[in-house]
Amino acid sequence: MTSGPFQILPGSPQLFESAKAQGDFARVCESAGKPFYIETFGCQMNVHDSEKVAGVLMARGYRPVSSPEEAEVIFYNTCSIREKAAQKVFSRLGTYRKGRDSDRKIIGVLGCVAQQEADRIFERAPHVSLVCGSASYPKLPDLLDQLESGHRRITGLSLDTDECFETEMTRRDNRFRAYITIIEGCDKACTYCVVPMTRGPERSRPSNTILSECRRLAEEGFTEIQLLGQTVNSYRDPAPARLSFAELLARVAEVPGVRRVRFTTSHPHDFSADIVEAIDRHPALCDQIHLPVQSGSNAVLQRMRRTYTREEYLEKIHCIRSAKRAISISTDMIVGFCGETIEDFEETLSLLDEVGYDQVFSFKYSPRPKTVAGHLEDSVPEEEKGRRLSVLQAKQREIQNQRNQTCVEQTYEVLVEGFQPRLGQAVGRTTSNRIVNFPGEPSWLGRYMNVRVTASGPNSLVGELATEQTAGQVKR
Ligand code: 5AD
Ligand code: SF4
Repeated sequence: MTSGPFQILPGSPQLFESAKAQGDFARVCESAGKPFYIETFGCQMNVHDSEKVAGVLMARGYRPVSSPEEAEVIFYNTCSIREKAAQKVFSRLGTYRKGRDSDRKIIGVLGCVAQQEADRIFERAPHVSLVCGSASYPKLPDLLDQLESGHRRITGLSLDTDECFETEMTRRDNRFRAYITIIEGCDKACTYCVVPMTRGPERSRPSNTILSECRRLAEEGFTEIQLLGQTVNSYRDPAPARLSFAELLARVAEVPGVRRVRFTTSHPHDFSADIVEAIDRHPALCDQIHLPVQSGSNAVLQRMRRTYTREEYLEKIHCIRSAKRAISISTDMIVGFCGETIEDFEETLSLLDEVGYDQVFSFKYSPRPKTVAGHLEDSVPEEEKGRRLSVLQAKQREIQNQRNQTCVEQTYEVLVEGFQPRLGQAVGRTTSNRIVNFPGEPSWLGRYMNVRVTASGPNSLVGELATEQTAGQVKR
């Protein structure tokens, strides 16, 4: 899970190349079309939705630019999972209210805040002309047509779509890793969560279209595929092949050219042993599982309607731990949920010890409008939520420190994803999702290299290029 704003980068050379390859060369010429800018908040699904929206815009001749000042069309792809994220959007919209030339710009609000707060957006920011939730993105091209033909205000808020937002023109911002949404929406009913309301009911994409997209991406040079869904492992194939999620994983892993496959986010209720068996059988499936637990207390889990108990969750963990490969496990946790006692919180802390997570994304509970828990008493004071969060994070830091220490002296294959020019350091990622910094060159971006780990910290590793660059003896 990611947070904070992500900026969709302007037309990068690889994007230009990929648009050219897709026969849309003329449409992305520098001189063409209105300049647009998208700012993205929230999760990986939003980041990928923005890539698709950018693709649709470019297919219509709009061209991406790197700042809102240069743009004539500005889209905010928003997140409302916690209150702070939702507030950020209104403060961004405020900056344009004051802007001298806001009248001439088309401003659109997409994503979860758009879906939840449509009318309030037009009231608070009258200069907004398009409001569209993610379940209505399949209609986005039509909505854009209406704007272009002079409509002042357009909304796309229907949730009753059974389509997924598939587009050939996805504008991918990472040269090596491609995201593919395989399931949209969510049919779970966690009492704290806005997603079922903002993203609509679950809809899975047919496996044949997923696999043909994977093959095309591999041919274009993407080596890592990340399958996305709010509950990715609840995938139910509507195609005649009726592949299970584990079968789909195996088929993606077998696509020639695909070296790494990740998937996020899994729901514990639908997590089955065949996923672990697939990871054991297919080296291209990364040894990493994100399995949000939210709380270690059964009473809290029940109030959250997570549909599993601590014991059932631990059975899934046991299944992952009994794999032949060592699989790293990460989770999401919420502290200070309605009625969470000190004893409940201590059970969450003891779960950290019992599981030994490799990474934990932790949040203070934030009551959200129109959710079931939004009507319950938000009983834990803000200050106490903050205290619990710090205690949990300090404990997890210690656990991560210990777990990462076991990586020292080992050699891992990393995909080089970044370069820090000031430090002369390459930034790589292991299959288990650990970051490794090591002396390198900018030209190594996108390469797979073997790195020996020399030191570790709670959040990353330090290494050096292994003298032996042959795969085989390398831990994956
Ligand atoms: N308050 C705090 N955290 C939340 N999450 C979802 N809804 C809320 C909320 N109302 C967290 C959960 C989820 C992650 C994406 O965000 O941990 O797994
Ligand atoms: Fe929200 Fe629960 Fe669905 Fe995850 S499974 S998106 S937390 S309702």
